[in-house]
Amino acid sequence: MKIQLILQKDLLSILEIYNSFFIFSPKSEKKFSMYFKNRFLGFYLTNNKQIIGFIWGRFIDKNFNLNTLWISPIHRKQGCAKMLLEILFEKIKYSSSETEKVFLHFRKQNELEKFYSKFGFNVLKTTENYSNGDLKISMEKYL
Ligand SMILES: CC(C)(COP(=O)(O)OP(=O)(O)OC[C@H]1O[C@@H](n2cnc3c(N)ncnc32)[C@H](O)[C@@H]1OP(=O)(O)O)[C@@H](O)C(=O)NCCC(=O)NCCS
Repeated sequence: MKIQLILQKDLLSILEIYNSFFIFSPKSEKKFSMYFKNRFLGFYLTNNKQIIGFIWGRFIDKNFNLNTLWISPIHRKQGCAKMLLEILFEKIKYSSSETEKVFLHFRKQNELEKFYSKFGFNVLKTTENYSNGDLKISMEKYL
């Protein structure tokens, strides 16, 4: 397995996988490209040159806003997400000494509190913030 920094040239192949899994929140190429140009940091994981996972987000003020973490279903529970999170935390600290914390949110029904708490995240708040009324859990981790 190999971890690589996401570069402009990788965006299309990553987006294709993203859109096939996150079918309820697809991203356009234009939107993803604009997002990429704005203080973006992300990595992808390959196995025999196949993309099997990715993680990304961007720096906003003194936070890093973790937007996406995904591992291909057949590679889950083998420490892949852990590898990506660890390299991301390391790189955030290395690239921006002013960044104090990593922030993220997800739908409550995805039951990710336990997963993220393993990596030092604490629940910040639970709000009814998604447009369809789904409960949103926000978590943060101090670096
Ligand atoms: C959530 C997800 C990223 C986990 O990836 P993974 O590669 O299976 O995770 P890892 O194998 O690195 O697991 C790290 C630890 O978390 C635990 N864990 C993994 N998935 C978990 C879950 N859904 N709930 C609770 N704990 C979980 C593992 O058992 C492991 O614990 P350990 O270190 O004590 O053994 C993956 O299931 C996924 O891509 N899900 C769909 C997309 C998604 O929900 N992404 C996150 C929001 S954008």
